[in-house]
Amino acid sequence: MKRKVYVILTAAGKGERFSKASKLKKPKQFIRLLGKPVILHSLLLFQKCKYVDGIFVTSGREYFEYIHSLAASGRIIKLSGLVEGGKTRFESVRNAFLEIKGNPYDLVLIHDAARPNINIDMVNDIIKAAMRSGEVIYGSKVSETVKRSKNGFVTETLNRKNLWFVQTPQVFRHDVLKSAYKKSGKKNDFTDESGMVERAGNRVKLMEGSKENIKITSASDITLLKKLMK
Ligand code: CTP
Ligand code: MG
Repeated sequence: MKRKVYVILTAAGKGERFSKASKLKKPKQFIRLLGKPVILHSLLLFQKCKYVDGIFVTSGREYFEYIHSLAASGRIIKLSGLVEGGKTRFESVRNAFLEIKGNPYDLVLIHDAARPNINIDMVNDIIKAAMRSGEVIYGSKVSETVKRSKNGFVTETLNRKNLWFVQTPQVFRHDVLKSAYKKSGKKNDFTDESGMVERAGNRVKLMEGSKENIKITSASDITLLKKLMK
């Protein structure tokens, strides 16, 4: 049986840091960037990816109609469901995961709609890596010195050699995610699914991605992305 690949695209955040700085009311994943809404960049890419079978988008209910119309205009025929988000990103992804009727060996790729600067090679590469070795996430090596502090004073300088900034996409086997959710119970303060999967005792492979795969957080990220993506 062919292994299926499902995408969970997170778009249920309010983008509060971004809105505060830019005075734009719309969540950052819906503003226009180089001619199309930020989220559409990722939707078009996953539509184009030959491995992807279905796309689940998490968002607030008030955006369901809007996303449906975006998908229709962009011919995103792989859109399989819109799922109401939760209070945190972690809860939003869990809600979406529960909608996927997958088999144990199917793959689930999780990506933040707020990271529009991904390309087809990156997506294909991480899916192929996950087909070989299971759980795989993208990150970039830390290039600055990192210190720990207490009350504004340094307590420790970390060895940056083994430190990574972690990004999305992240890919997991369906059964690994399922049992990690089960094991984590009510604990829901993970900042990404990899954290939960690691805690459940699984080995997660780090793939070096691109430092240009930035997550829109504040207004200046848009200026930067316009330069990087054109
Ligand atoms: N997200 C989500 N559900 C939430 C919170 C966030 O699906 N309850 C999504 C966001 O839409 C975004 C991704 O998770 O694509 C990363 O989150 P973040 O960058 O923190 O976005 P926001 O939470 O929207 O921004 P902020 O924290 O500034 O409010
Ligand atoms: Mg947030």
